[in-house]
Amino acid sequence: MSMRTHTCGELRAADAGAQVALCGWVDSVRDHGGLIFIDLRDRYGLTQCVFDPQDSAAAWDAAQSCRSEFVVRIEGEVRGRPEEMVNVKIGTGEIEVRSLAIEVLNKALTPPFPLEDREAELVSEDLRLEYRYLDLRRTGMQRALMARHHILQAARTYFDEQGFVEVETPILTKSTPEGARDYLVPSRVIPGMFFALPQAPQQYKQLLMVAGLDRYVQIARCFRDEDLRADRQPEFTQIDVEMSFVDADDVMAMVDGMLARVMAAAELPAPQLPLPRMTWREAMERFGTDKPDLRFGMEIVDLGEVFSATAFKVFARVLEAGGVVKAVNAKGLAQATIKTVEEDWTGLAREGGLGGLAYIRVQEDGTWKSPIVKFFSDAERAGLQEALGIEAGDLILFAADKAEKALPVLGRIRLLAGALAEAIPADVFRFTWVTDFPLFERNDEGRLVSVHHPFTAPLAEDVELLETAPEKVRAQAYDIVLNGTELGGGSIRIHDPKFQARMFKVLGLPEAEVQSRFSHLLRALEYGAPPHGGLAIGADRLVMLLTGGHSIRDVIAFPKTQKSVDLLMDAPAQVDDKQLRDIHIRLAVTPTAEGGGAAAKPE
Ligand code: AMO
Ligand code: AMP
Repeated sequence: MSMRTHTCGELRAADAGAQVALCGWVDSVRDHGGLIFIDLRDRYGLTQCVFDPQDSAAAWDAAQSCRSEFVVRIEGEVRGRPEEMVNVKIGTGEIEVRSLAIEVLNKALTPPFPLEDREAELVSEDLRLEYRYLDLRRTGMQRALMARHHILQAARTYFDEQGFVEVETPILTKSTPEGARDYLVPSRVIPGMFFALPQAPQQYKQLLMVAGLDRYVQIARCFRDEDLRADRQPEFTQIDVEMSFVDADDVMAMVDGMLARVMAAAELPAPQLPLPRMTWREAMERFGTDKPDLRFGMEIVDLGEVFSATAFKVFARVLEAGGVVKAVNAKGLAQATIKTVEEDWTGLAREGGLGGLAYIRVQEDGTWKSPIVKFFSDAERAGLQEALGIEAGDLILFAADKAEKALPVLGRIRLLAGALAEAIPADVFRFTWVTDFPLFERNDEGRLVSVHHPFTAPLAEDVELLETAPEKVRAQAYDIVLNGTELGGGSIRIHDPKFQARMFKVLGLPEAEVQSRFSHLLRALEYGAPPHGGLAIGADRLVMLLTGGHSIRDVIAFPKTQKSVDLLMDAPAQVDDKQLRDIHIRLAVTPTAEGGGAAAKPE
């Protein structure tokens, strides 16, 4: 008989009578008055194996000494279970294996945490990451890895059908301007020189368009040395796409098709195509963010007209100065605590640069309780009532300031209010495109920088503003957003070398820097670059959202911690002096084990 005849998820009532051999891990051993039950587990499922001393005393004996997570091979005969013993929760629940022999293929130490999903989730994540190979044995993690496989497979198949060519681009490359810090790799061969790991394959995919590939896709690994959050890892995966002879609509339509396929692969309801689109301005006005969560209402409402002649000084002053008065109706939250409204949310407003956060609580009897309504005229009250659809139980929150300060504050409060009111359904998937982003923003030092990257083309009608009013220039850029998370983004690129040079000039990049960083791209554009554009979807985020994960670590086999440490491999780690000498590096600090560094690991 072969090592195994079936997997642990395969046997059914129709197999009764078959002689089988199963291999797997001991999920549990139970002693039931003389009979021993071993639940045998592998990736495919669980099979109940029964040992009776009458059948084989030796097998019964060996089964008794098995412990959880031992790796064993069991031979026996499949038999149907009596009706009242059928377990409908597992696929093999109609049968069990009358076990005649068991061989321990490998023993196992007791795992440092339980491998049952609900119990394991209570254990510290660091411990699970240190023993990730055990963590990955859990049903929940196996399901996540399988879902990831199906989703990426579906995306690949889709692009293949659409004529895309998958091309691998280098990992050892040159600094790319995606806005994060680079991971650097010193060159041994050329002392003092460094490769950078790619933050994205951006320039290579543009060069592939110059090369005439027409349609490129890559499931690409990207590296960014940035502060980590639940939806950020130092290395992550993009579904990276580039197309020639297209406009923004073509790219978005292509990605719509991919997302529909991916939803099907994840066994989720198909979204209606085309996916909805809104401009960046509309997203900011209605949701106070460029990644709107469309699963619930509580949209931001403009009250400029209602308060155009108000006697309430706070609002009047702001409106006179060209600012805005906006509000959110947090439906049903009139009973929110003073701490929530006056400490947490008002604190958030102050952090956002606002003088405060005005509010109205609408009592059950319909009366308004608020420190500010006494300043409002009857017409203003009526106007508010109408604009916000006010009902008993509502909580109205006002922000008055410059639009770019007031909107993000209300956007954040809208999300907190939605969560507090339990108004955000978990099992609903709402996509939207956000288009026409600003091309530039000012960084902390007041310098003009690209919102996406410097290869992004402006809207044709805004080009004339490039030098005179750069902040007003909109980009041919688009982000795809799912449930309030930015899934991906891209743009139509600049394909004219003169125009690309002009863009670098507007960005204030010195000619020498442009030459040293981008001469390869500028030169390539001189040799017949087609009009082109594309985008990249964050694969980890996509899988996380479609599988209901809370962190992208839940859908990455071997992720790093919040401190960018790999606890399993104990990396980063020290290297020995010879390795450092080889790459011409002398350390300016004494390495410490703090944060996961291991002892020197000589070859
Ligand atoms: P961008 O920088 O917007 O665009 O990245 C595209 C998508 O990648 C995901 N992402 C991340 N996921 C996990 N961890 C990270 N640290 C991380 N950083 C980004 C996000 C994001 O939307 N070259 C352009 C694309 C293009 O213009 O074609 C680019 O990389 O989901
Ligand atoms: P004050 O006149 O500063 O006492 O403010 C009166 C009310 O208006 C208080 O409830 C403040 O929280 C609120 N308030 C002050 N500044 C703003 C602002 N920029 N936006 C919204 N509400 C504000």
